[in-house]
Amino acid sequence: MLFNKGLFSSTLGRNKGLLLTLLGSVMWISYGYAQTESASPKAMQAKFPNQYMSWAATSEQEERTDMLASYPAAIVLWAGSAYAKEYHSPRGHHFAVADVSHTLRTGVAPAAGEKGLSASCWTCKSPDVPRLIDKLGVEGFSAQNFTDLGTEMNSVVYCTDCHVNGSAELSLPRPHAQDAMAKVHLPFDKQDSNMQGAQVCGQCHVTYYFQPERSNKVNIPWIFGSTADLIEKYYDARRFYEWIHPVSKTPILKARHPEFEHWSRSQHAEVGVTCISCHMPPAKDATGQEFTNHQVSDALANYEQVCQDCHGNKSALVDSLQQAKTQIDAKAREVEGLLVKAHYEAGAAWEAGANWAMMNDAIMAIRHSQWRWDFAMSSHGIYAHNPEEGNELLDKAIVQANEARRHLAAVLKELAVTQVNYPDISTKQTAQQAVGIDLDKLTEEKQAFIKQEIDEHWPAVSHHGYSID
Ligand code: HEC
Ligand code: HEC
Ligand code: HEC
Ligand code: HEC
Repeated sequence: MLFNKGLFSSTLGRNKGLLLTLLGSVMWISYGYAQTESASPKAMQAKFPNQYMSWAATSEQEERTDMLASYPAAIVLWAGSAYAKEYHSPRGHHFAVADVSHTLRTGVAPAAGEKGLSASCWTCKSPDVPRLIDKLGVEGFSAQNFTDLGTEMNSVVYCTDCHVNGSAELSLPRPHAQDAMAKVHLPFDKQDSNMQGAQVCGQCHVTYYFQPERSNKVNIPWIFGSTADLIEKYYDARRFYEWIHPVSKTPILKARHPEFEHWSRSQHAEVGVTCISCHMPPAKDATGQEFTNHQVSDALANYEQVCQDCHGNKSALVDSLQQAKTQIDAKAREVEGLLVKAHYEAGAAWEAGANWAMMNDAIMAIRHSQWRWDFAMSSHGIYAHNPEEGNELLDKAIVQANEARRHLAAVLKELAVTQVNYPDISTKQTAQQAVGIDLDKLTEEKQAFIKQEIDEHWPAVSHHGYSID
């Protein structure tokens, strides 16, 4: 419980005193979602001990996988972006602030006078984000540097991320999530509590991008709808891209954990089984008191309480999940293999003097294939949430990657290129070397930043699970 003590003291110590002295009691009202006294860890633990203790238990879920080591080809697909530096599978909610602070993806503080990574990267980690958005405005917040706001992150995925201050009533404190649910005609305040439960998860477990023309504020690209096709239509119409691939010059689209999207089209959603049903099932304490288990974790571990009602045979269910996973993983590896080749074939074509008129069809096919692959693979648990959609996305990605390579074969022939040098993607190390990532140097710089800045000045939650804990 060391951590909780730290969280408690840092929350009260840093924020409260300052706010109270500076702004007086008026702030309690306008700061709807801040950790005011009534929603402090101490108050919440006293009022709702079972929910509090189970929430705190997400700090036990320490394990995670290095995804770049699991499928190094992704490093080539993400070359030119920070994703190629470090990418892990998700773990317990209590690690959210510390992991985003420590990852190589968020780097170090920018040089004086330079613009760094947007503070938007904090958005799905802490209830201090809605608090700061209230204070600075949406764009005022996103215009800040990520590293400049580390000292403000006192709490990690907390009661006030999902509940109205100090109560059990559900809420959606992030403006981008309110907007998004309205875009798909599911405004939060018009939903029943079942759908509201899924939507609180969907604040964070959803795809998004930073809107460049709006100071990098978080936007959920659902204007036309939330499928891969309709999001792609939105991005294509706006000629949006996240970065230009350094080898193929493809304007890349990046998907991020669209769990909400995939679930919303699943057979489970149709019968009213939500994220909450599977990941936060009902539990009983020692006195027989019922409560919702807030240790958001593996769903399959809840087989007896949840799945059994509808899926009577456990081993059949486990087998079917395993099969779906194996099938989806195999297709993903196939797409990756094809896309690595396509990026380098495009690179060879550019080097041999190709122009955009010759390359356009191939480049667009790479863009669209990689988008679908990413929309499937960045959705953690797609094999459980919506295996049909996962398969469809990857089947189409394979077709599009092959199409890109057909176009490229014709271009290469026209330019009399007979040999393409493909990178060695057998391990994370070789793939990172191939795309020019100096992991030792990045790690050294990050470690220095952690030691001088994070360990010294950022609140306790940003150390959780790391050495100085
Ligand atoms: C990630 C979102 C999330 C977080 C964080 C969260 N809750 Fe909940 N909470 C829910 C959901 C969803 C429900 C179920 C609501 C329903 O089905 O009506 C719930 C239900 C409750 C209830 C109603 C009684 C029950 O057990 O069903 C209480 C009380 C509660 N939460 C307290 C807390 C406290 C205290 C914290 C912080 C320590 C917290 N919650 C953190 C999402 C969250
Ligand atoms: C405020 C944003 C936020 C909200 C709200 C939120 N999550 Fe998360 N969730 C995260 C982040 C960030 C991680 C990854 C943390 C890490 O790896 O450091 C995560 C991780 C997870 C994991 C992985 C846990 C593990 O042990 O592997 C599951 C499952 C999960 N969330 C489900 C949910 C469900 C279900 C809800 C709704 C009740 C929800 N989340 C609400 C941000 C959020
Ligand atoms: C039918 C039950 C079910 C529903 C509904 C469901 N999930 Fe899952 N989820 C699973 C299963 C099964 C897995 C695979 C691993 C496990 O949890 O056992 C999983 C995996 C995950 C993971 C990846 C965990 C990790 O460590 O890799 C996240 C994150 C997640 N779910 C979030 C959500 C969110 C958010 C929703 C709602 C939008 C949701 N889930 C709806 C059953 C469900
Ligand atoms: C209220 C009933 C209900 C509950 C509870 C439920 N499911 Fe389902 N599940 C369904 C229905 C309906 C289908 C679609 C028809 C079928 O395949 O049986 C389904 C399908 C599935 C599939 C096949 C996916 C697909 O789309 O082909 C998996 C895997 C699955 N469920 C896992 C789980 C897990 C894991 C849990 C518990 C964490 C769970 N379900 C809880 C009703 C339920």
